[in-house]
Amino acid sequence: MTKVAVAKGDGIGPEIMDAVLEVFKAANVPLEYQVVDMGKWVFDKGYSNGMTPEAQQTIETLGILFKGPMETPKGKGVKSVNVTARKTWNTYANKRVFQTLSGVDTVFSRAGIPIDITIVRENIEDTYGGVEHMLTRDVALSRRFITRPGSLQVIKYAFEMAKKKNARRITCGHKANIMKITDGLFLQVFYEVAKEYPDLKADDVIVDDLCMKLVTRPDLFDVVVLTNLQGDIVSDLCAGLVGGLGFAPSANIGDHICIFEAVHGTAPDIAGKNIANPTALLLSGIAMLRHLGIMEKAVIVENALLYTLEQGVHTGDFGDKGKTSVNTTQFVEAIIANFGKSPEKGAKPYQADMQTTQTHFKLDKNEMMESAGAELEKIVGVDFFIESNEQPIAIANKCMRHAGVKFKLINISNRGTQVWPTGSVYTNLVNQYNVRFESIDDFPLTQQDVLGLYISLSGNFKICSSELLLLWGDKRAYSLAQGQ
Ligand code: NAI
Repeated sequence: MTKVAVAKGDGIGPEIMDAVLEVFKAANVPLEYQVVDMGKWVFDKGYSNGMTPEAQQTIETLGILFKGPMETPKGKGVKSVNVTARKTWNTYANKRVFQTLSGVDTVFSRAGIPIDITIVRENIEDTYGGVEHMLTRDVALSRRFITRPGSLQVIKYAFEMAKKKNARRITCGHKANIMKITDGLFLQVFYEVAKEYPDLKADDVIVDDLCMKLVTRPDLFDVVVLTNLQGDIVSDLCAGLVGGLGFAPSANIGDHICIFEAVHGTAPDIAGKNIANPTALLLSGIAMLRHLGIMEKAVIVENALLYTLEQGVHTGDFGDKGKTSVNTTQFVEAIIANFGKSPEKGAKPYQADMQTTQTHFKLDKNEMMESAGAELEKIVGVDFFIESNEQPIAIANKCMRHAGVKFKLINISNRGTQVWPTGSVYTNLVNQYNVRFESIDDFPLTQQDVLGLYISLSGNFKICSSELLLLWGDKRAYSLAQGQ
């Protein structure tokens, strides 16, 4: 029998996990569960990543973690257990399915507009690296990582999944009009992968426009793939379209380890009262069954759940307020009593061909994911981020004195807007500038040349950070300032 690791979590976690396992037991789901110690309570015992070494080992051996929500301890420097788990095990794709559920009243269900949207969110990169620094007392900087291999992993997964589910359309949500290098890379990879799937209709929408379209015509969308932060926001928006977080399941997919969990948190306000809605965790568990190829049981449980919802049985957080709500235990009993029944609307068919095979295998070293580049790389300049509260012209005069024979000062910008050699006195300034130097006459530069300039410039300014300006062939690997 397949064994999976189970972490019950904090707050309502143990209640809803027990509820789901009760449903699985009644359905004779052929799974064995190994409960692992993970969550805020483990953190409180002194394990800084929120899990015991035994829990980590079990999860890495079994390859599947079914988890309840976990509280993020409040306080400086403490990272979320949930985010740590997703990142440590490289579950690069977060898949969330949002569907109209018969019996769950929403604006769209009343208007007769069906929703069936799958959001695939990149799960590792972006600002979620949490690599942040205060560069001056006024200026905070977050590093946003978008990588080619990371984008490829999640986008390939999204296309493969869309193909399997016979999707009508796959859409990339992005902000590449503003973040031309980072989101531009994500979008470029999207269209590279799209070429391998000529039968799928692939298109892209700028994320703000996407939000507007989702709340007006959600039925036009099928699979949507996004970077981490934008995906986070858009998926909560979609949860709202189908009735709220209580109905939002999620699967964190990696090549070796997968984590199935509800989108919602620990709901501390209702914990311990036996009134929580287990639907989202149950839907996540059903996704796990499908992932493991336990298709028949998945269909029985899902149809019983959908039938129960259609009958108007509801926990206190949703449904017809005129009809008395049931508690978690009663909700579970109702689902179990409905095994074998299917809803009138939206019944799930048994699809053996949707079967996925698990690919868990042991690794003995970290995988290096690297793309080869054919073009010659050349250092053509450097950006120095300096602290100063002087006017741009005064900074320019000092910088030019340091430029020497190899560099020329190209421009100065503040918060990404050029303020020298041209600019506007109406541009407000903060005490951190980006001064850009490039090589004179395309003279090839070395890191030593850049260090020489660094040392010289540091005589006048505090240098907060620096970035090399690179050319690959004739392609610029850096952005221009607004107005440059
Ligand atoms: P939350 O999702 O726990 O609660 C928001 C609201 O929704 C509350 O009113 C709550 O009662 C209600 N709610 C949530 N799930 C429900 C359910 N199954 N049945 C009925 N009502 C439900 O979000 P909040 O309050 O922002 O976060 C609480 C804690 O959960 C925090 O420590 C947070 O870090 C953690 N969290 C954990 C997640 C995870 O484990 N994946 C995801 C989101 C938050």
